[in-house]
Amino acid sequence: MLVSVNSSFSKKAKECFVVFAGQSAKDKLKSFCDCDETKSLIKKYFDKEAFKAGKGETLFLRGAEADGFENVLLVGLGLNKEVNLETIRVAMAKAYRALRAEKQKAAGICMSSLSGYKFKTAELAYVLSESAELTNYKYTDFLNNKNHHQVSLEISLSKAGDRKQAEKGVEEGVITSSGINFARNVSDAPSNYMTPAQLAKDTVKAAKGSKLKVTVWDKARIKKEKMGSLMGVAQGSAADPRVIIMEYNGAAKSKTPIALVGKGLTFDTGGISIKPSAGMEAMKYDMCGGANVIGAMLAIANLGLKVNIVAYVGAVENMPGANAIKPGDILTARSGKTIEVTNTDAEGRLVMADLLVLASEKKPASIFTAATLTGAIIVALGHLHTGIFSESDKLIKKIQESADKAGEDVWRMPLLDAHKKQMISHYADIGNMGTPSRAAGSAQAAGFLSEFVSNDVPYAHFDIASQMSDMGSIYPYCPDKGACGAMVRTFIEYARKS
Ligand code: BES
Ligand code: ZN
Ligand code: ZN
Repeated sequence: MLVSVNSSFSKKAKECFVVFAGQSAKDKLKSFCDCDETKSLIKKYFDKEAFKAGKGETLFLRGAEADGFENVLLVGLGLNKEVNLETIRVAMAKAYRALRAEKQKAAGICMSSLSGYKFKTAELAYVLSESAELTNYKYTDFLNNKNHHQVSLEISLSKAGDRKQAEKGVEEGVITSSGINFARNVSDAPSNYMTPAQLAKDTVKAAKGSKLKVTVWDKARIKKEKMGSLMGVAQGSAADPRVIIMEYNGAAKSKTPIALVGKGLTFDTGGISIKPSAGMEAMKYDMCGGANVIGAMLAIANLGLKVNIVAYVGAVENMPGANAIKPGDILTARSGKTIEVTNTDAEGRLVMADLLVLASEKKPASIFTAATLTGAIIVALGHLHTGIFSESDKLIKKIQESADKAGEDVWRMPLLDAHKKQMISHYADIGNMGTPSRAAGSAQAAGFLSEFVSNDVPYAHFDIASQMSDMGSIYPYCPDKGACGAMVRTFIEYARKS
């Protein structure tokens, strides 16, 4: 745990004081810090124009000697009226990066500087600890030298009531960041290690001691369950597939569960419709949808949210082996629907189709899919948003509210009957590639998926390909290089409200 709560700062924490400051209007300083020396320090550097308290700004003052601290780190929040919890999360991440760059081992956080924003102590502690843990994350499993610089942070609060709240906040921040960091870790692992079987093993291990029930289906069971579409993708690989089912019952038995479905392609070569070699290594991240669904389930269960929720993850490797499906091959999904595979690189939707049929059979309250489904979503949105697709305005509204609360960025994309109709095939009930090919590719993919959901179940799809990895320049608590855990926080918020 990187963040602790005390009634006064320890000697260790006195190495550096982290102080936040915002603006009452553009370029007008308004800091709530009430520490005598630090307060005047902020003003001094503001007047010198060395620190404008702008969003994302940091200024490290070595040897500042203020209020008993050796060094001071000033962190800008931008316009005070625009400050929300995501602003604090981002600011803490910037601060953590600066502390790491300056080789600080410990620091105290000035809570008075965050006092004017009407956030509860628990909320502040939650985002501070979550952000620190997320920013600290580094994938070191295959490094001989696993040392990486960590900074321990202290929150000092004298009032006993506040301290309790802060401790609770820190604990919850650790739970959510652990879920996200689990998702990042399994996604960052190379595919020669992180096989479908390994993902299932790691999931079972991570869920030990929680209230999650995890069931793993192996190849024989998947075949028996008539998941011909998923099996079609798996058959080109020497690594056998797994279906991972996670169930959590935090509410009354009578309450209908929500279902999450994740694409867990531990590697996507494209299969016989093979991908170009440049950049193909990023396709180890093609399991991010599945990993993020697992991470969300771990967090939801460990937070003890009052919700019933079930997750289905299809862990599969897409390879061009001797047994691989070929363009023109026809697969039969669990629903009996036949699918012509005109492009074996559009494999995610084939894996998800069977999972959606399975999820629909339980008549859940709603189904969400999370998948690195299309390159086209990056063309449409860049990396600033995850694309969301649903025919239900009501569901979109709830998702948007959850994402806003969680500080994640989603953008609604069209999903129309016209997109579904573009997935035609001469030889089978449906094709896995659209006609005209690749036009509105992400919406076509969403349309294909929706054909495997029962009509009476509200459905939304998250295409996270645009935010799967390397998001540090947009979200400083994400790694510059590596998986990010997109939408875990949104799923947690949605579950919290359900
Ligand atoms: N996993 C890819 C999508 C992807 C691309 C994710 C880039 C992240 C970054 C998916 O399986 C895929 O290859 N989709 C094809 C679909 C096409 C063949 C219809 C694509 O996007 O080109
Ligand atoms: Zn593919
Ligand atoms: Zn893929």
